[in-house]
Amino acid sequence: MKNSKPILVANWKDLPASREEARALLSGLAKKSALFKKTTLFVAPPYSYLESAAEKSSSYTRLAAQDIEILPTGRHTGSISTEILKNFGVRLVVIGHSERRRLGETDAEVREKVKIAMKAGIVPLICVGERERDPDGKHLEGLREQIKLSLGGIRKKDDVGKIVLAYEPVWAIGKRAQDAISPQDLAETILFIRKVLSDMFGRKIAEKVPILYGGSVEPANAQELFESTGISGFLVGHASLDINKFSKIAEALTL
Ligand code: PGA
Repeated sequence: MKNSKPILVANWKDLPASREEARALLSGLAKKSALFKKTTLFVAPPYSYLESAAEKSSSYTRLAAQDIEILPTGRHTGSISTEILKNFGVRLVVIGHSERRRLGETDAEVREKVKIAMKAGIVPLICVGERERDPDGKHLEGLREQIKLSLGGIRKKDDVGKIVLAYEPVWAIGKRAQDAISPQDLAETILFIRKVLSDMFGRKIAEKVPILYGGSVEPANAQELFESTGISGFLVGHASLDINKFSKIAEALTL
C-alpha cells in the first residue's frame, strides 16, 4: 500500500460491550480529527458496530475488518461476505491475527484469505509474529517460515505493493508498555523481515511494503518504538479503546 503518512490501526477486537460505548469512542475520534488526519487511520470494530462506524467515518477514518471468511459459492448462514464489507466501505482487513491462529487458523488459510481480500480490492493486513522469543534468535527461522507460507499465494510482484504486514510478537500482545518489545529488538526484527521479503520478491519491492508493529503499544512506548525502528505505524489493541491513550499514540507518530 502506497503511503506517506504513518498508519494507525485500531483493533477493537470484541469490545466495547455496548453500542453506546462504541459510539462514544467514534465521537472521541471525530473530536480529534485534526490529529488523526495526520495519520492514515483505520478503525477495525466488531461487525455489529460497522454501521455506526461507517456513519461516523469521514475523510480521516477508514474502516477495517478484523477477519475475512473463506466461503465456497452459495449462501452461508452466519457469515459476512466480502461484498457486505466492501459496501460498508471496508478498505483493509486484518488477516492471520494470532488470536485467530490460536483458534486454529492455518498458514494455508491465511494465504487463501489474502487472495480473497486482494481479489475483492481490500488491502490485506497480514499478521505474523513468534509465540516466544529466543535470546539467541532461534525464533527467527519460524518467523521466516510463517512469512513465506502466509504470503506464498502472492505471485505477481505488483501485488506485493498492495499489502501491509504487521509484526506482532504473540508474547507481547495484551500486556503493558514495559512488557512490549524493545526498540532495538524491534529494529533488528524489522530488518530481518525485510530480508525475508527481499528474498521472496526482490529488494526494491521489499523496501516498499509497510510493516506495522503491534503488541502492547501504549503512550509510554509509542514514540521510542516508532523512531528509527523502520516501521510504518502501529496496530493497536487495548489502548485503542481509550481515546486519551489512543490520541497520545497518534501524537507520537506525528511528532
Ligand atoms: P494490544 O493488542 O495492543 O492489546 O497488545 C494488539 C493486537 O492484538 O493487535
